[in-house]
Amino acid sequence: MKILVTGGAGYIGSHTCVELLNRGMEVVVIDNLVNSSAKSLERVRQITGKSLEFYQKDVRDRAALDEIFDKHDINCVIHFAGLKAVGESVTMPLEYYDNNLYSTVILAEAMRDHGVKNIVFSSSATVYSADNTVPLKESSKTGMCTNPYGWTKYMNEQILRDSAKAIDDWSVVLLRYFNPIGAHSSGLIGEDPRGVPNNLMPYISQVAVGRRDHLNVFGNDYDTHDGTGVRDYIHVVDLARGHVAAIEYMQTHRGESVFNLGTGTGYSVLDMVHAFERVTGKKVPYEIVARRPGDIGTVYASPDKSAELLGWKAQYGLDEMCRDTWAWQSKNPMGYGE
Ligand code: NAD
Ligand code: WQD
Repeated sequence: MKILVTGGAGYIGSHTCVELLNRGMEVVVIDNLVNSSAKSLERVRQITGKSLEFYQKDVRDRAALDEIFDKHDINCVIHFAGLKAVGESVTMPLEYYDNNLYSTVILAEAMRDHGVKNIVFSSSATVYSADNTVPLKESSKTGMCTNPYGWTKYMNEQILRDSAKAIDDWSVVLLRYFNPIGAHSSGLIGEDPRGVPNNLMPYISQVAVGRRDHLNVFGNDYDTHDGTGVRDYIHVVDLARGHVAAIEYMQTHRGESVFNLGTGTGYSVLDMVHAFERVTGKKVPYEIVARRPGDIGTVYASPDKSAELLGWKAQYGLDEMCRDTWAWQSKNPMGYGE
């Protein structure tokens, strides 16, 4: 089976390529490297001992997609490509809508015209409204997003849902990721944010490796066990395996489906700091500062539907997430070094 992976050079994409290749699937990647390095794909080849095809192209480039679909008999597309920085999306909304929506429309049109019928889309827990109760279920309320990035996920879900209704025999799986962290246990691939990390775990690991002085903890007055924000962190390898499960599910299910990819367990910011220190033996100095605008106290998934229908469950715990984050960060202090 041949899979087209858009955004396959990125953090989650590269880990998913490893899992697909390990399952004996063939992989074709399209990525314009706007937020990644081709070195990640070299490392994927090194980890798996297998080859993959790489097109350094923009997903909005219809001619490039035509070339790929003409040349390769693609069974399924996994659509990771997109811009993902929440704060940047507030200052550059048009770039986010252009990149994240247009890429999906062009990709879906090309799939329809070439008779490719299966697509897995990277959605996000950010599509859930802030006024839900936890755990978040796939049936929980969506919308009222607090930033353009979140709206692009919400709108992309709708675009693909409508397409699944209209195009004969289409199958769309929307995967709502919670907080992916960690890395492949080899330490060869991992998350390599450009500039100052927006997310907690890369910030912690950059403090531990000496690239940053201390962590700012955004608020300690939430209604949580220690006052700091609680999230559902999930090992990126577990997340990657969720995509393999989705592809298998699509072989027998048509139409639209939506699944959470989370563990069902929430940890606070300070839980994460303490676990990281315990597992790695590294100190992570921190200061409590004001809440980050737009943040909410507690977010975690109900993983029940994914367990029941995909037969998928996260296997790794917090210690493995910290261990593998550190394997990557300590072996690659400057990431892929570009
Ligand atoms: P990433 O930035 O590492 O990967 C995205 C990849 O897409 C990058 O390699 C980038 O170069 C590529 N890309 C972007 N626009 C492109 C375009 N127009 N054409 C071709 N390539 C393009 O991000 P990630 O963390 O691996 O996230 C992958 C997907 O998962 C994204 O859609 C993201 O929004 C979604 N997601 C991520 C998280 C998270 O916390 N990391 C959570 C929920 C959802
Ligand atoms: C986690 C916790 C922060 C950084 C974001 C996006 C979401 C999704 C995942 C893509 C919160 C606290 C963080 C720091 C801190 N991405 N924190 N100091 O906010 O759950 O979600 O990434 O879809 O759309 O919004 O993740 O890692 O940014 O924050 O105290 O330097 O860590 O306040 O409680 P979040 P995060």
